[in-house]
Amino acid sequence: MWMTPTSQQALAIDGGTPVRQTLLPYGRQSIEEDDIQAVVEVLRSDWLTTGPKVGEFEEALAARVGAKFAVAFSSGTAALHGAAFAAGLKAGDEAITSPLTFAATANCMLYQSARPVFADVCPDTLNLNPECLAKRVNRNTRAVFPVAYAGHPADMDAILAIAEKPRLIVIEDACHALGAEYRGRRTGSVAHMSVFSFHPVKHVTTGEGGMVTTDRAEFAESLRRFRNHGISSDALQRHAKGQWHYEMVALGYNYRLTDVACALGISQLKKLDANLARRREIAEQYTVTFRGLRGIIVPSVREGVNPAWHLYPVRLDLARLSTDRAQIFKALRAENIGVNIHYVPVHLHPYYRERFGYKPGDFPLAEAASDQLISLPMFHGMTDRDVEDVIAAVSKVVTAYQLKGERSESLAFSRSAGEPT
Ligand SMILES: Cc1ncc(COP(=O)(O)O)c(C=O)c1O
Repeated sequence: MWMTPTSQQALAIDGGTPVRQTLLPYGRQSIEEDDIQAVVEVLRSDWLTTGPKVGEFEEALAARVGAKFAVAFSSGTAALHGAAFAAGLKAGDEAITSPLTFAATANCMLYQSARPVFADVCPDTLNLNPECLAKRVNRNTRAVFPVAYAGHPADMDAILAIAEKPRLIVIEDACHALGAEYRGRRTGSVAHMSVFSFHPVKHVTTGEGGMVTTDRAEFAESLRRFRNHGISSDALQRHAKGQWHYEMVALGYNYRLTDVACALGISQLKKLDANLARRREIAEQYTVTFRGLRGIIVPSVREGVNPAWHLYPVRLDLARLSTDRAQIFKALRAENIGVNIHYVPVHLHPYYRERFGYKPGDFPLAEAASDQLISLPMFHGMTDRDVEDVIAAVSKVVTAYQLKGERSESLAFSRSAGEPT
């Protein structure tokens, strides 16, 4: 049914009825009975950690992304740290990433005593801009960490080309991008190493968890040691050989992912294709609807890219709105739509400002985008009704704040069933 013009509905923030009665989060896991059974089976087995499920999960993920090796870690952050270690990052080195990411992408460089350097983003995808990257490379640069923001891979061919001559290691932060495709290749098999996260809001979850994929055996070996204290063999290998002796050959950590978590991951991975299909369907519905809504800029998708849609971040066209992002954010929350912001640019966090002297204006494109961004709910467990609620609430709120003369194309919006809940 077609709703009447939204400008006539009072916003919940002004005392009107919210579009929903309960908060719809921006992301959430889906756990089904077979996932629970897979975990219970492991709880009844001999191996709660460093057992057979770890290798099984690693092999399944490597096969899914088309990489030779996959090494499981206790989180995406630990996996990033592992990749920074395997790339040989150390004091005196620099590594370059985009400021528009989660702090962990840059923090992992600091864990290795290397210096995080930022380069600005592309105006369309908000991913690391190859031209800006090229200007930041110097003789201390050892690695580049492109981020597949929201699940849309960066311009990897251009980045790999820049990295080639100075022999930089390219580590893709693919924490948003499990299942994404880039020019016919699967994310996870494009960079020298790729890092995934299995946090509950991701495409596949293990509670906490992460993985590094790579085609290089020396990286895989280094990653395996690093996640296990720097010890050259693990408990399962020693058990199989009836061996007790082990040697610590490098300084590592306990970053192991348990068999309990891996069993959940194996079960979840079987649903990845269905989860991606649902996310793509939701993204398509959002894009088709919001493309015609003045005041909203929908995410760009480049030719040859099939994003994994971890997030659906819209940008507010503030010149066409009578208010700022904070007010739109509050108004959407009042409608019970759990919007979020991804991200405050990393260089503007107090820690980075104080330690490295970064300031507003250093990366203008990332900063301008960051002030406009709002992530709408996006997870594979969203019902059709949830999607309709988001569409209804965004249309209602944005229309209410459109500047005069900006309203004509966006007064009506569709909703397939019923009145607002
Ligand atoms: C871009 C990015 N990198 C790294 C991480 C860290 O992953 P984890 O939460 O599994 O440690 C996240 C987490 O959401 C992320 O979004």
